[in-house]
Amino acid sequence: MFKDISEIMSQEFDGKEVSIRGWIWRTRSSGKIVFATIRDPSGVIQVTVKKGNLPDETFEDAVKALMESSVEVTGTVKADERAPGGFEIQVSGFNVVGFAEAYPIQKDQSEEWLRENRHLWIRSRKMTAIMKVRSTMTGAIHEFFRKEGYYEFTPPIFTPNACEGGATLFEVKYYDKKVYLTQTWQLYAEAMIFSLGKIYDMSPTFRSEKSKTSRHLTEFWMAEMEAAWLTYHDVIAVAKDEIKFIIRKILDTNQAELEFLKVDTAKLEVMIAKDWPTITYTEVLKILKEKDGMDIEWGKDLRTIEEEAIMKHFDTPVAVVEYPKEIMAFYKPSMETPDAPGPVAKCFDMLAPDCGLEIVGGSERDTDINALIKALEEEGEPVDNYEWYLDLRRYGSVVHSGYGLGVERVLQWILELDNIKDAIPFPRTMGRVRP
Ligand code: 4AD
Ligand code: MG
Repeated sequence: MFKDISEIMSQEFDGKEVSIRGWIWRTRSSGKIVFATIRDPSGVIQVTVKKGNLPDETFEDAVKALMESSVEVTGTVKADERAPGGFEIQVSGFNVVGFAEAYPIQKDQSEEWLRENRHLWIRSRKMTAIMKVRSTMTGAIHEFFRKEGYYEFTPPIFTPNACEGGATLFEVKYYDKKVYLTQTWQLYAEAMIFSLGKIYDMSPTFRSEKSKTSRHLTEFWMAEMEAAWLTYHDVIAVAKDEIKFIIRKILDTNQAELEFLKVDTAKLEVMIAKDWPTITYTEVLKILKEKDGMDIEWGKDLRTIEEEAIMKHFDTPVAVVEYPKEIMAFYKPSMETPDAPGPVAKCFDMLAPDCGLEIVGGSERDTDINALIKALEEEGEPVDNYEWYLDLRRYGSVVHSGYGLGVERVLQWILELDNIKDAIPFPRTMGRVRP
């Protein structure tokens, strides 16, 4: 019976014989003794192999086994203050399952080299820690929506329609037709709420982003929700609860990983205890002008530098609402407000503190069929293609809203990662689709 390494690192196992299996993380030997560290998904432990304690051939195998060889190790657990983690195994059996060749990953290799060798780099302690937190996060999203009474609905990935504008669509040859990889589940979600009412999903999303930044992927995971009868203010409240729930789960589950990644957990604890503000786009421009001397013309979309600047003034995420209608996707309903000089959309972006990352985007959906047709025409979309979507306004239309949360963006923000590429196992960007 093999045990997890993390399980045997305790007083309870001191002096007991155990078997573990994993990979050699580090190893060095003098003539008579091998000091190796073995890792498995749960942790790492030092093992000491002494010549004479096991058959000579086996000892020679332990000497020859290089880093990343796969091994099964049996021995006695000993508490030892000098060992990392406070325990080591004194080895009586050492079976090399797979001898590794000289491992190409050494210290101080460039980020780009590590991405080229991602299939190996994924074994690193850093990537392992991030991927554990990612797993907690995606589990938390399912848990949150299910406890709130949402159904999971899985949308198609091939689609004939644009939703977020044509500029970032990936075209796919579909027999003799041309279709796209999905940019969002939204149009299908809007159809499904007539059946299931409150729905959510988490699925791959594709955007042929034309820029190389530390915050854009071409393939990413979006967790979306859509609900009948809810306004955009209602779903902003859901988004705030969802993100607080995710952070709570990560804090409760991933202490070791957060410590390893040097995440400021006290800051996260304080943040989730606070109310998170909602402010308008127009107020953002005012703050940027008064506090940062940035003069942004009303009607222009916020760029990264403006999102970063505004979020320096907050220590929690902020929902920025009511962007100018003119720069918004066709489905966002328009309205007039007293504080804005032009029509605004019933929409919001959630921005993260400090980094200013946009972590969520959402809105109410226009229920006015004529306004939708006009907006599609203005975007140059073939309205015929959207007839099925327009049917949703013809048969029992109701107020409804939804949003999409960028899984990698949220992870990048919570874990304070410099680059979004480290928030996904195999990143796809403008410059990279391999390995
Ligand atoms: O703001 P976006 O474009 O919203 C939509 O697609 C809506 N149809 C969602 C909805 O209402 N159901 O995208 C949602 C979120 C962004 O806020 C961001 O977090 C993430 O998806 N995102 C990206 N993440 C990584 N790489 C990219 N290229 C991303 N584009 C958007
Ligand atoms: Mg957006």
